[in-house]
Amino acid sequence: MKYHLITFGCQMNVADSAEMGRHLEVQGVSQTAKLEEAQVVVVNTCTVRQQAENRALSQIGRLRNWKVQDPRRVLIVAGCAATRLQHTLKQRFPHVDLITPATEIARFLELVEKVLQERWSFLAESDEAFEGKTPPKLDAGATAYVTIMRGCNYHCSYCIVPSVRGREVYRPLADILSEIGTRVREGAKEVLLLGQTVNSYKAEVDFAGLLRAVDQINGLHRIRFMSPHPRHMRERVIQAMAECRKVCEHLHLPVQSGSDRILQLMQRYYTATHYLQAVRKLRETISELTLTTDIIVGYPTETEDDFRATLELIETVGFDGLFVFKYSPRPGTESARVPDDIPTAIKEERLQRVLQLAERLSHDRHARLLGTHQEVLIDSVKNGHAYGRTRTNTRVRVPSTGVAVGDLIPVILETMHQDAFAGRRMS
Ligand code: 5AD
Ligand code: SF4
Repeated sequence: MKYHLITFGCQMNVADSAEMGRHLEVQGVSQTAKLEEAQVVVVNTCTVRQQAENRALSQIGRLRNWKVQDPRRVLIVAGCAATRLQHTLKQRFPHVDLITPATEIARFLELVEKVLQERWSFLAESDEAFEGKTPPKLDAGATAYVTIMRGCNYHCSYCIVPSVRGREVYRPLADILSEIGTRVREGAKEVLLLGQTVNSYKAEVDFAGLLRAVDQINGLHRIRFMSPHPRHMRERVIQAMAECRKVCEHLHLPVQSGSDRILQLMQRYYTATHYLQAVRKLRETISELTLTTDIIVGYPTETEDDFRATLELIETVGFDGLFVFKYSPRPGTESARVPDDIPTAIKEERLQRVLQLAERLSHDRHARLLGTHQEVLIDSVKNGHAYGRTRTNTRVRVPSTGVAVGDLIPVILETMHQDAFAGRRMS
């Protein structure tokens, strides 16, 4: 029996998909990249913006054909949009068999077992969920995605995540360390620690303590994490980042806006000045740090002046990369109660201005990187090229001869292509 995964959204969802996959793998159901071969399809959805949700919903619509070909096939819709729409999804898409909310990952097998059993006389005795155990390997890759906490205790006015993923729940330290240990034995060289506000982790230790503990794992070479909240970017965490040799010199620190008025409306609990102070501290403590961020344009009532403050902050920080989103009202959130009053054309224009600035900043940065020596962790090999990332998260490709996924190689950066530097392996 085979399953096929279709994942939308963030890395958290990628990790959740892998976890759902592992629940099935423990029962002997194996993954296939081919839809036609699968008896079970899991669509892991995103609802963070309307557009993201729409993409997942049209995918579910398209799967009707797959389902009609054999009605015993099982279509499972999981993740954040499944949580938000759990009471209406089946009316809209009668071919969906099961909805498994984002908050119920640990019970995934329990939820799907019944329908698998009915349709395929399957999983007769087991009701195993891997809570507390180290799940088996899913696919060999250079990076292990490891969830350290679920949910979010903030209530940013625009964000639907707290309502679909619930309050913060922290995974015990021992479980996290044991899972990373297993992944390293399977070949992972890097870990990406995941949480909605990953640096608010607090179990036996806080996030700084967790970084220090993970740094001790033999055979692990790199540690990354996503996404921290600026308010929790405290001295202790910065210090731990600087002192742990394996923690990479890259931080994705979402700022959202550079206007204090908008930040307050968004309930972000920091001002532009606080954010800049954190950046200064980070750069003083960690040399060569690269910084990336998320920006929302066109939040309700955002004026040209508010927007200019955002441009100014981007320029002041000199971000190495950013994601920019047009504000999208999400039902049930606080900001959805006020009119979405910035016209689409203005949102689009502001988005383009941010992109232009980002382009200029990345151009400067690329010029600085040319000719430098970097350590690259190879994560994929295709069409004669091996691709990987530097510690500072720059994408690099080298000729694939003699290079495999998981290799850490010294590279000199020679030319810039669309989305990656072309480099040469140094001996
Ligand atoms: N509208 C637009 N962008 C949003 N984000 C979250 N909610 C919304 C929304 N309602 C963006 C934020 C966040 C990223 C994951 O998505 O920038 O950091
Ligand atoms: Fe991830 Fe947020 Fe989308 Fe959920 S809503 S999948 S947490 S990006």
